[in-house]
Amino acid sequence: MRFIGSKVNLLEDIREMIKNNCTGATSFCDIFSGTTNVARFFKKDFAITSNDLLHFSFVLQKATIENNIKPNFSSLKKNKIDDPLKYLNEFEPKIEDLKSEPFIFNNYTPNHNHDRSYFSKDNALKIDFIRQKIEEWKNDKLIEENEYYYLIACLIEAVPFVSNIAGTFGAYLKHWDKRAFKKIELKHFEIINNGKQNKSFNKDSNILITELKGDILYIDPPYNSRQYLPNYHVLETISKYDNPEIYGKTGLRPYNEVKSKYCVKGKVLDEFSKLIKNANFKYIIVSYSSEGLMSEEEITNVLTENGIKSTYMLKKIPYRRYKHTKGEVKHSLNEFLFFITKR
Ligand SMILES: C[S@@+](CC[C@H](N)C(=O)[O-])C[C@H]1O[C@@H](n2cnc3c(N)ncnc32)[C@H](O)[C@@H]1O
Repeated sequence: MRFIGSKVNLLEDIREMIKNNCTGATSFCDIFSGTTNVARFFKKDFAITSNDLLHFSFVLQKATIENNIKPNFSSLKKNKIDDPLKYLNEFEPKIEDLKSEPFIFNNYTPNHNHDRSYFSKDNALKIDFIRQKIEEWKNDKLIEENEYYYLIACLIEAVPFVSNIAGTFGAYLKHWDKRAFKKIELKHFEIINNGKQNKSFNKDSNILITELKGDILYIDPPYNSRQYLPNYHVLETISKYDNPEIYGKTGLRPYNEVKSKYCVKGKVLDEFSKLIKNANFKYIIVSYSSEGLMSEEEITNVLTENGIKSTYMLKKIPYRRYKHTKGEVKHSLNEFLFFITKR
C-alpha cells in the first residue's frame, strides 16, 4: 500500500545498520509500524513486536506479523466455503443482501445528500458486504480470531486499488479515475513463519514502551505536522466498521484519540525524549527526515544523553533534490538513520 513515510526503500539500509552493529540480537520491535513493511521484512530474522495507533495498521500486523501460518478456515470449509476469498470475490451483492446499514455505500459514494466520490457504487456495496460477512462469520463462530484479522487485512490491502483518490484518503478526486471502476479483488497474503512468538499492538508508543523489553527498537515516527488519521480515515472506518459520526466534505471520522504528539511542534521533542528514556532495548535505530519537526541536533542530543556515546552513528540518505529553474541545487533532503547502543 502507498503510505506517507513508508520505509520500503530504506529496508536494505536498515538491514546493513543492524548487520554491522546489533551483535547477538534476536528480537526486533517496530513501534510505529504503519504498513508493516519493515516488520515483515525482518520477520524471518527476528522475533517481532509491532505496533501502531491506527487500527487498520494493527489489523495488517495481526495478519502478517503475529500470524505464523496461513489460516485454514476449517469451520468455513465444513460449511462448504473452501476459500473465503474466492467466495467473497465472486459474490455480487445486492442491497438486500446486507444485514445492516451499508455505511461505505451510504457515505463514500455520491447520493442526494453529498457528492463524496471515493468509490463506485458497486465497489462500495461490495466493501460493505465483505466487511459485514466477516463480522457475521465471527459472531457465528465460523472463523477464529487470526482468520478474522486475516480477512479484514485482505480487504484493507485491496481497497486502495479501487479508490478514487490521488494517494491518500485526505480527499477524493473530482473526476472518476478508471481505477475506481475495477472490481475490488481480495488476494491472499504470503505469511512468513519464523517459528517465533510475535506480538502486535494498537497503542500509543509512549505507553507501550513501558511494557516492552528487547534487543532492537526501530523508531519511525511521523516527522511533520500532518496527522495520519485524516489521510487514511476511510481505511480506519472499514477496519473498525463502527459507524462513526462523520463530518465535513470528505466524511472524516472524529480522531481525537489517535492524534499524535509526534505531529505537534511544541510536544514532539518531549515525547521522543520520554520514549528513548523509557526504552528497555539494547539497540535503537531511528528513522527521521531532515525536514522534520525535530532537528538533527535535537535527536542526536536525546540519543547520546540516553545511550553509549561512542556507539552513536548517523547515516544520511539523500532522497530528493529541489532545483531552481536554472538547474542550480537549492537544497537537498535527507532521510536520517540514527543508531545508538542503549545499554
Ligand atoms: C512514518 S509512519 C511509519 C511508516 C512505516 N515504517 C512503514 O514503512 O510503513 C509513522 C506511523 O506512526 C504512527 N503513529 C503516530 N503517532 C503514534 C504514536 N504515538 N504511537 C504509535 N503509533 C503512532 C502513525 O499512525 C504512522 O503509521
